[in-house]
Amino acid sequence: MKNIVILISGRGSNMEALIAACAAGELPVNIAAVISNRPDARGLETAARAGIVTRCVDHSAFALREGFDAALADCIDGFAPDLVVLAGFMRILGDDFVRHYGGRLLNIHPSLLPAFPGLHTHRRALDEGVRIHGCTVHFVTPALDHGPIVIQAAVAVLDGDDEATLAARVLRQEHRIYPQAVRWFAADRLRLDAGCVRVAADADAGGVLIAPAAP
Ligand code: GRF
Repeated sequence: MKNIVILISGRGSNMEALIAACAAGELPVNIAAVISNRPDARGLETAARAGIVTRCVDHSAFALREGFDAALADCIDGFAPDLVVLAGFMRILGDDFVRHYGGRLLNIHPSLLPAFPGLHTHRRALDEGVRIHGCTVHFVTPALDHGPIVIQAAVAVLDGDDEATLAARVLRQEHRIYPQAVRWFAADRLRLDAGCVRVAADADAGGVLIAPAAP
């Protein structure tokens, strides 16, 4: 079974979705640790309650990002993960860090990338008047909120939506697609093809490639 390490900064609801999928027998991975860059991250308690090892590498203790990145990588590598999962991890990671985890670092972003990288995605989607919004799981590259897309889910933007209602609708989809992306990774089904992710057919099911479309 593959080892994963989850990085969080706050609430940790995506982390919870991954823990729940494991507990339900729907995600055959070992969550070796949950690591936060903030000691007060609510998700640390949730993880500990689920019996998962937790650690904090407090970014405020480091003057330079390189120092933080190195300490974080040391902590992560102590758990020998096959995959590192960013789940609401709110620090920008340096190029060396990203390269070190090349091909085994996933992120979830609350927009349909490449639209709306960065912060305040729901507010910006409303301001632009888009009718379709959503979320994306992607492999991390040195460019912020950029990298080969594994899976996306789209939601309608409804008349009368505000930031909170739209965020809640998107978050429900985040909780569906992140376990799916990790499941594919765990089953060695993700392939890079000219910079795009292809999902190989389930070896047991036989058949064709499945496009990484919205469920
Ligand atoms: C999610 O919307 C995620 O897409 C973004 O930050 C939020 C984290 O939420 N990167 P949670 O901590 O998983 O509840």
